[in-house]
Amino acid sequence: MSDQAILVTGAAGFIGFHVARQLLAEGRHVVGLDSLNSYYDPALKRSRLIVLDRDPRFRFVQIDLADRQSIAALFAKYRFPTVVHLAAQAGVRYSIGHPHAYVDANLEGFLNVLEGCRHNACRHLIYASSSSVYGANTKVPFSVEDKTDHPISLYAATKKANELMAYSYSHLYRLPVTGLRFFTIYGPWMRPDMAIFLFAKAIVEGTPIKLFNHGKMRRDFTHIGDVTRVISKLVDTMSAITVPRSSCMSSRSWRRSWAARRQRKCCRCSRAMYWKPSRISGI
Ligand SMILES: NC(=O)c1ccc[n+]([C@@H]2O[C@H](COP(=O)([O-])OP(=O)(O)OC[C@H]3O[C@@H](n4cnc5c(N)ncnc54)[C@H](O)[C@@H]3O)[C@@H](O)[C@H]2O)c1
Repeated sequence: MSDQAILVTGAAGFIGFHVARQLLAEGRHVVGLDSLNSYYDPALKRSRLIVLDRDPRFRFVQIDLADRQSIAALFAKYRFPTVVHLAAQAGVRYSIGHPHAYVDANLEGFLNVLEGCRHNACRHLIYASSSSVYGANTKVPFSVEDKTDHPISLYAATKKANELMAYSYSHLYRLPVTGLRFFTIYGPWMRPDMAIFLFAKAIVEGTPIKLFNHGKMRRDFTHIGDVTRVISKLVDTMSAITVPRSSCMSSRSWRRSWAARRQRKCCRCSRAMYWKPSRISGI
């Protein structure tokens, strides 16, 4: 197992904690990043970190994703081969009262992560998107082919924006990127703002359970164990792959024909002609 550390952002959060713990259990070195924000009780985040800190291969850094310089310095220091990006401002309802938190963490922060990967030879970026990108889609089951052009919350809009940003970086810089659209995740250490936690809390406290939409709400849930298994396999798969320098044959054949044409002269003025590729800014 390589000694090069994997970066897990949001390591003090629900999913990031489990992913970091799984990767450590597999013998990997992990750098966990989190701002420990107070979207929900930071004491729960600190308790998760205490568990991770027991492993000497774990290192925690408290950095805000929007802190461009600190993120750039972290990436330059470790040159992570794999980045599992799970930190984000989560929650749909919270975005109504706190829109800037979403732009800072999910847009600016995501760009800083992409830039870190781009400039430091990251071989695979895995990041969390969300089923909320399906918006008001009523067709079930959802499919990755379904339209995701109508997000109905700012949270969903930032997640959709992440998918587009990741696509363009993957295209421009040949950065292998995998986005995962999570459907509501549940399991131990879960987020206290989520329905299953609230139901359990009400049961323990002997208070009534609130059921919205008159109890007719239906939803897909995913167990955290399935999420960590998938991410661990993705980390394995991609570390075994040598990233192609050129993503397709056409790029190589273009280079050959360009070299040949370079020799030709313009018949009118005898000047050498240079066929150039389209500039990335031209599309
Ligand atoms: N839990 C779910 O059901 C679910 C569903 C769909 C998508 N997701 C996505 O999965 C990811 C993880 O979700 P989670 O449930 O573990 O949420 P979480 O809130 O428990 O974890 C996110 C962590 O990111 C940290 N964070 C937030 N903003 C930050 C910033 N600017 N800089 C550094 N750290 C910051 C928080 O402190 C938190 O610990 C998120 O991207 C979320 O949008 C989760």
